[in-house]
Amino acid sequence: MNILIIGSGGREHAITWKVSQSEKVKNIFVIPGNPGIEKEDKVQVFDIQDPSIQDYINFAKEHNIDLTIVGPEAPLVDGIVDEFEKNDLLIFGPTKKAAQLEGSKNFCKEILNSGGVLTAEHQSFTDSISAVNYIKQHSLPIVIKADGLAAGKGVFILNNKEEASKLVNDLFTGNVDGVNCSIIVIEDFLKGEEASFICLVSNDSVIPLASSKDHKRLNNGDRGPNTGGMGAYSPTKLIDDSIADKVIKDIIKPTLNELKKRGINYSGFLYAGLMIDENKNPFVLEYNCRLGDPEAQAILMRLESDIIDMLLATINNKLDDLNIEWSKFSACTVVLASQGYPGKYEKNKKIDGIEHEISGTKIFHAGTKSKNEDIFTSGGRVLGVTALGVNLQVAQAKAYDRANQVHWEGKIKRHDIGDKEINNKFIFS
Ligand code: AMP
Ligand code: GLY
Repeated sequence: MNILIIGSGGREHAITWKVSQSEKVKNIFVIPGNPGIEKEDKVQVFDIQDPSIQDYINFAKEHNIDLTIVGPEAPLVDGIVDEFEKNDLLIFGPTKKAAQLEGSKNFCKEILNSGGVLTAEHQSFTDSISAVNYIKQHSLPIVIKADGLAAGKGVFILNNKEEASKLVNDLFTGNVDGVNCSIIVIEDFLKGEEASFICLVSNDSVIPLASSKDHKRLNNGDRGPNTGGMGAYSPTKLIDDSIADKVIKDIIKPTLNELKKRGINYSGFLYAGLMIDENKNPFVLEYNCRLGDPEAQAILMRLESDIIDMLLATINNKLDDLNIEWSKFSACTVVLASQGYPGKYEKNKKIDGIEHEISGTKIFHAGTKSKNEDIFTSGGRVLGVTALGVNLQVAQAKAYDRANQVHWEGKIKRHDIGDKEINNKFIFS
């Protein structure tokens, strides 16, 4: 098969690496890819700048692509799946309407509430006067979310009502960098343990992938600003069999039912960001319509089945016949990021030590570029250093060993990815 993969981050590197292991695959084309992706077997990268959906369609036709895999959410929310299907091109992922679960927090809340799914109490606003009045009566902390896609920059947790009111005004007047919105969701702050529940969904069938946990905050001990994710591991005991059953029965299925009532069929990865409270009740914080990043790096490190079989079974509505094999080992991913991330970060720093291999580890590139034979930083999150180990402690130690061999000026990382799980420090342990 000829495969087209869209994207350039660590998640897309992990997807490409796994796809290249499939015997069914002959050629992999990646737009735009990155220097790590380019080094994988069977891969050619095409650095097309700002491609439109029509550009992808033309590319797929010209290169006889048999299957297209979309890594990030933006093309899905823009409707790439609908357009490919109109052109009889096979593509993996949800349609534009289904991707609204991630594309609009307001739509997501409406679906969750009408399906009776546990989620934070909320109200949506289209003007700042009503929003500020709501904030006045609300307890603290308070969670403010911009409605549309904001690449992780649209969620704010505030402990001060004046700051919250000012933020709402700034959001409505377009004064928050990188965030454009006409609807704001304000919701209660939930306490608990966060986990990522990612599944394959096709029509009424749901198969969960291996469980995983991300580390969203920048600094050790879950302090500092939110990021796209500073590290992840898989599996996690936060999602035991009984919670997994509960999530499918009380969260995923009712969500799919609500979509169906609105004439929407979901197909693709569905990622529920969960907050599990002290009574082990899972609440939905958000939905994503794609694999998580860096969760994908840890999850795919443990995948033993052919990923192409999984994607085709989803597209062809054959999930009930699918059996996914996972390594019994644990995987741990430590993200190495640029000084300044998640704000304005440094770029163009030369990276050394990437080539020192340690068996059972893999470095996924996220924000890198190559010049001659050298690799330089080009993004906020630069590398996802991933390791497999007989348990999480071993995987974590190996990931940090490898991470510590990689250097550039201003490299930052968290030092405690997986610590809470290893030390049994969850609120209900
Ligand atoms: P979201 O993009 O909606 O998942 O929000 C990003 C991050 O903000 C989440 O991963 C949580 O860490 C945090 N968050 C979002 N909503 C809430 C909430 N209602 N209560 C507590 N934390 C939240
Ligand atoms: N790691 C969080 C996300 O992919 O949204």
